[in-house]
Amino acid sequence: MEGLPAVSDADYGYISGLLYDRFGIQFGDKKKVLVAGRLAKRLRELGLSSFSEYVRFLQGDTTGKELVELVNRLTTNHSYLYREREHFDFLTTEILPSFVAREKHGAMAPLRIWSAGCAAGEEAHTIAIIMREVLGSEFKRLDPSILATDISVDALKEGQIGRYPEARFRELPKQWLTKYFQKVDGEMWEALPPIHGMILFKRLNLMNMPYPFKGSFEVVFCRNVMIYFDGAARQKLVNALYEVINPGGYLFIGHSETLQRGESLFRYIKPAIYRKEV
Ligand SMILES: C[S@@+](CC[C@H](N)C(=O)[O-])C[C@H]1O[C@@H](n2cnc3c(N)ncnc32)[C@H](O)[C@@H]1O
Repeated sequence: MEGLPAVSDADYGYISGLLYDRFGIQFGDKKKVLVAGRLAKRLRELGLSSFSEYVRFLQGDTTGKELVELVNRLTTNHSYLYREREHFDFLTTEILPSFVAREKHGAMAPLRIWSAGCAAGEEAHTIAIIMREVLGSEFKRLDPSILATDISVDALKEGQIGRYPEARFRELPKQWLTKYFQKVDGEMWEALPPIHGMILFKRLNLMNMPYPFKGSFEVVFCRNVMIYFDGAARQKLVNALYEVINPGGYLFIGHSETLQRGESLFRYIKPAIYRKEV
């Protein structure tokens, strides 16, 4: 591409190898131009004129900060509220009512949901809205919470603020937009405390197992994250998620993703919905 410093196979191999080893993210040989394009600005910011210099800079960085910067530049944090609404319908009609009914007949683990690979928190805010809407008078007593994690520091910062441009609400019913968000300057809407206060944002690399959590989750949303991973990394991830889901709890993956038969202990329920047996 004109104007971009060329990337040698060796330098590209180093960068893509690092992304795979540390994050499970697979770029493969075909993404060389894309990687070069996305990193060109970073090279300029650092005053470097070649990818070889950048690779040396990465190798010499003992703080790990450049690795974070690298992954921020290369991952796609695209998301929007109420994405793949079938999952929110299933949460509304099956999971939450069943949890409330079972909870009345005996002690249940706390109602916790994990948005794993949360981007800027669009998914987590949608889950919060659904919990508020469905749990109604049971909400206070059940005191549900949401953990939202990602590797991208920039995306997490945006989630912590909870302010999004109007375009990201295009799928969300209008009455929920005005009930749970307030319009701030221009085209931006900011999440109000009743939903924003339910979410804890944390940085977490999904490839760093075991996860540092106490307790488990009733539902894990890990949607449109595995698209970056190859079979081995995906299997490792799905096994680790299985460990943190309550018996009888659910895993949601993106509708363009699949778990191969035999790849995990989960039971297939319907497209992109899996359950851990009781
Ligand atoms: C396309 S977004 C998906 C957002 C949301 N789950 C959805 O379905 O709309 C994928 C997210 O996965 C994150 N991601 C990729 N690899 C990761 C890893 N190893 N650990 C944690 N997050 C990762 C990216 O930073 C990005 O924010």
